[in-house]
Parts: sequence; structure tokens; C-alpha cells
Amino acid sequence: MLKGKKIVLGITGGIAAYKSAELTREFVKRGADVKVIMTGNATEFIAPLTLQTLSGNPVYMDMFLPADKSEISHISLADEADILIIAPATANIIGKIASGLADDLLSTTVMATNAPVLICPAMNTNMYTNDIVKQNISKLASKNYFFIEPGHGELACGTEGPGRLPPLEDIVEEVESILTKSDLAGEKILITAGPTQEPFDPVRYITNYSSGKMGYALATMARRRGAEVTLISGPTSLPEPFGVKFLQVSSTIEMRNAVMNNMEDSTIIIKAAAVADFRPAAISDDKIKKGDGSLSVRLERNPDIISEVGKMKGDRILVGFAVETENLIENARGKMTEKNMDIIVANDVTQDGAGFRTDTNIVKILDRKGGVEEVPLLDKIEVAERILDRIKAMKDKGLKQKSEG
Ligand code: CTP
Repeated sequence: MLKGKKIVLGITGGIAAYKSAELTREFVKRGADVKVIMTGNATEFIAPLTLQTLSGNPVYMDMFLPADKSEISHISLADEADILIIAPATANIIGKIASGLADDLLSTTVMATNAPVLICPAMNTNMYTNDIVKQNISKLASKNYFFIEPGHGELACGTEGPGRLPPLEDIVEEVESILTKSDLAGEKILITAGPTQEPFDPVRYITNYSSGKMGYALATMARRRGAEVTLISGPTSLPEPFGVKFLQVSSTIEMRNAVMNNMEDSTIIIKAAAVADFRPAAISDDKIKKGDGSLSVRLERNPDIISEVGKMKGDRILVGFAVETENLIENARGKMTEKNMDIIVANDVTQDGAGFRTDTNIVKILDRKGGVEEVPLLDKIEVAERILDRIKAMKDKGLKQKSEG
């Protein structure tokens, strides 16, 4: 979603400046146009040529340029930016912005821009926890400057504590959020994702092929759009999405309990998890030995979580998924009615590019009024966006009807 966005990346003089090279690459990889401004001190830590090569643009350092380059001034950089990011941001640049100082190209551009500014502090722990720095950060935060908290850990100067530049994926995700319209602000969305695992002895379990990618994409996109997100996830190999409340579960019963304990104040519930319908009737304390013959494991029914939620959902919007290999629409509609869902996302997993383990999906979004939206082969994050658009439209319609009635 950063495709075509104009990013101005300010780099100041801290040891984490070398990480800005990788950050520049990340933005460029996502299709953004990155222009880098470096302070004099930043050039002591990393060569401008590195940033110039990675960004594909000249690196800007001087306030006063020769006449023939006059179109690239602090004013034009400030004007053209969709977002201005300072990473790493030293105590010095934070202090200068908080005091309204504009004595070099970066601080002048910050003063001159109307674009959102994201500041990523990275410095020695004692500096970061210094009262004056804290006051400067609070002051700027109250003036709508965005901050991302530094990570904890061992710092280059040998101290331990807050001050590390946060993981680059988190910075990128924060930029995505800032540049996405917060049209789901105020919504509390509970999402389940991934498979569940049902053990039958200490080393073996029954599960399915779900990767969790669709549910994680929904959590990421909902958070970008301003919702407060709780993600209840079965075991997956995916990183925890940034900025969401994350609850790890394993079995269907654990997932059911987590859903029941967290649904109370939710306004929207999305059940993207591929829940195991059955679990072994008994779990052996010891590893089951293979012996001579065959082995039978008796299975018993798991609770149907979404059916239970459907019975007590009130005016929450309930969204389920249907994974099918035949009669897609008919089966999905049946599940939607039977389980009292408002929307069902029908997934024919026999299609190339659709289903469990891929990064893409092809779905049909059905609603109770007979509506069908066909979503073609798209990246799961884009499919998530379409599903959320549909939910948003349903919410808006509900609110309109309420106000008219
Ligand atoms: N689901 C659930 N609890 C279960 C089984 C399914 O909450 N024990 C939810 C899934 O998260 C999904 C929806 O129900 O949102 C439909 O899941 P699916 O596996 O397609 O349907 P089932 O009802 O299990 O039917 P079947 O397996 O027979 O197709």
C-alpha cells in the first residue's frame, strides 16, 4: 500500500543510522519513492552514497544549493512528502523540533511540512529516559507528531534498556497505518486465525494445513484502519502482527475459551481460523508405541465456536469463512444461515492461488441479503481490505437505518 507514496526519510547521527539503509530498501521494495535527508553527523556513521544507491535519488544535506538545483529546496521536499520519517532520531533533533528550531535542512523541512511526521527515537538509555527528552517527546506527541517507542536491549554504548531502533517491520507497519484512512476507528475487532492442534499423545497431534495468513492479514489491515484488534491464533510460523493484542492458543477448546473471554466488548468478530472439528477422545500420558498391528484413534466432536458466538452475538457483526472443495456458494450459504453469521467468505481451496498455504486468495463474500461479491486473485492483504470494506459498508448501513428509524 506504499506504492507511489513519497517518503522523505531523515537520518540523524546515531549508531542506528546504518539501519536506515535497510529501511530505505524496505520502502523502495514496496514501491515508495524515497528521498533521504542526512544531517552532518549522520554522514559520520553512514556514507550518503549508500543511501543514494538504495533510494535511487540524490541524498539531500545542504540548505543552500547552487541555483540550477534550486527546485529541490527544503520547501519542495516538505511540500511533496506524503510522510516524513526520522529514523534514527537523536535527542538533539527531537529537542530542536520541540523548540521550533530550523537550522539545517532536516529541521527546516520538518518545520515547513504539512505531512505527518513519524519520529523513531534511538539513543543511549540515560538520554532517552532523561526528563527533558521525555518532556520534548510528550510535547511533540501532543502536537500530533507520531512516535514509535524504541526497543529494549543491549545498546551499542554497552548499556541495557530502552533506546534501540525498533524492528524495521514495525516502523514500516506504523507508516502504513499513518497513511491509511482510520475508517474503522472505534471498532473492536476480534479475529481468530490459523489451525488448531489436537494432541493424542505427548508427541503427536491432528491438525490441518491452515497457515494463518488470511487471519493475520485481516488483523494487520484492521489495525491499519484504526480498529482495536485482538488476534486469537492457533500455532503458525508467522510473526505477531504489530500493534494488536495477541493471544496464542493451541486446541479448539483453548480457542473457544479465549473467544468467550474476549468477545464481550467486541463490535465485530471474524472467525478465519480453520478449527479442528474433532479431537482425540483421550490423550495418552505416554507416547503411544507402534506395536504390531494398526492403530485407531477415537475422535469426539469439538465445540463449534462460531455457532456458539452466533447464538449470543447481539448486534455485533459476525463474519465466518467457508472452506469448500465443491458446491461453494450453496455450502457457504448453508453455513451462514445455520451459524447465524452476517457475512461469510467462501473459499474454494481447489483453485490455484486460493486457500490455505498461499500468499494470495480468491474468494466470494456473501451476505444474508443474497449479496455476492466476487474477489479475484489478490494478495491476502488486499483480500482482507475487501472483506473489511464489506463489513464497514454493513456497519454504516446499520447505523443509518438506526438513525432513520
Ligand atoms: N468453525 C468454528 N468451530 C468449529 C468449526 C468451524 O468456529 N468447530 C468456524 C470456522 O472458523 C469458520 C466456519 O466455522 O468460520 C466454517 O468452518 P468450516 O470448517 O468451513 O465449516 P464446518 O462447519 O466445520 O463444516 P464442514 O467442515 O463440514 O465443511
